[in-house]
Amino acid sequence: MSSKTVLRSLGYERYVIDSKLSYLKPIQTKSHQSFADEISHGLKQEPKSINPKFFYDEKGSELFEKICRLPEYYLTRTEIEILKKLNKDFTEHFSDEIRLIELGSGSSNKTRLLLDILDSFQDKIEYFPIDISEIIKESSKELQEDYDNLHITSIIDTYERGLEFIKNFDSGQNLIAFLGSSFGNFSPAEGLEFLHKINSTMKEGDLFLIGLDLIKEKKILEDAYDDSQGVTAQFNLNVLSRINNELDGDFDLSNFVHHAKYNEEKQRIEMYLRSVEKQSVSIHKANLSLNFEKDELIHTENSYKYSIPQIKQMLHSTNFKIHNIWQDQNQHYVLVLASKLE
Ligand code: AVJ
Repeated sequence: MSSKTVLRSLGYERYVIDSKLSYLKPIQTKSHQSFADEISHGLKQEPKSINPKFFYDEKGSELFEKICRLPEYYLTRTEIEILKKLNKDFTEHFSDEIRLIELGSGSSNKTRLLLDILDSFQDKIEYFPIDISEIIKESSKELQEDYDNLHITSIIDTYERGLEFIKNFDSGQNLIAFLGSSFGNFSPAEGLEFLHKINSTMKEGDLFLIGLDLIKEKKILEDAYDDSQGVTAQFNLNVLSRINNELDGDFDLSNFVHHAKYNEEKQRIEMYLRSVEKQSVSIHKANLSLNFEKDELIHTENSYKYSIPQIKQMLHSTNFKIHNIWQDQNQHYVLVLASKLE
């Protein structure tokens, strides 16, 4: 079978940009709920909620990059610090042909650190970012300018379907990276289900690298999600602008305030937008009229924190074998390397 036929049988079409850059997109865009439907569903719930995946329009992605550089937001710089220290104990599990699969394109900063490691022993580096958003097109071009031996295949699809594709594509060794504590947005049950799915798309010898935020002092956590410059507040409020712009809503942003608190019992940061007064809002393209009481909250995000024993337990119960757990000096954050338990 030609490679084109293989791709089509796996449900993808390849768009070749040049000899070192191509995109794979599903042939049939799976029917999915529209932005309007999901927003409408969430805001009819009690309490009202908006899924955090909607933070990331262009402005939201910019604000998130800004969050990553805030003094209070220790997560990104701590993860980078740990990545920079990875050594033999990391690469000893690598075959010569190992390639990088990244879930969520993220900041290419971190990707570069992993690519540099591959670059140190490979003539040709292979990188497969998987992201539902087409922004991977941009970041791929930037990476290409800096690595001339880099071959990128961007998979524009959900993580699960992208991994399923990788699994069936060939028998090469994969390093699957899921960085940035993105896992923290899942509830514990969803998290387990996700780990299970990843595990089931892995072959023997494949590696899984995951970055997770640890439980710590409440003050450090709350400051990280309520910074003194108000960038996180802007990021949170931006989802209302997005609804105004894309769904013809009339949220008055000055009538809502950012609120972040650490729920110790549930081990998660909870983010909300609080209505400062009793008010009504219409979202025309979602056919929605909403009433808010004074101080009523819209729940916008959970960001779960874990202990090392809990992380071990989660990975073991989803059929992983842990090779290494690296952490920073302050024990704020961990990177875990695991493979499939046979
Ligand atoms: C992208 C989900 C890892 O939870 O720390 C940052 C998102 N929200 N500040 C996190 C976020 C507010 C971030 N994740």
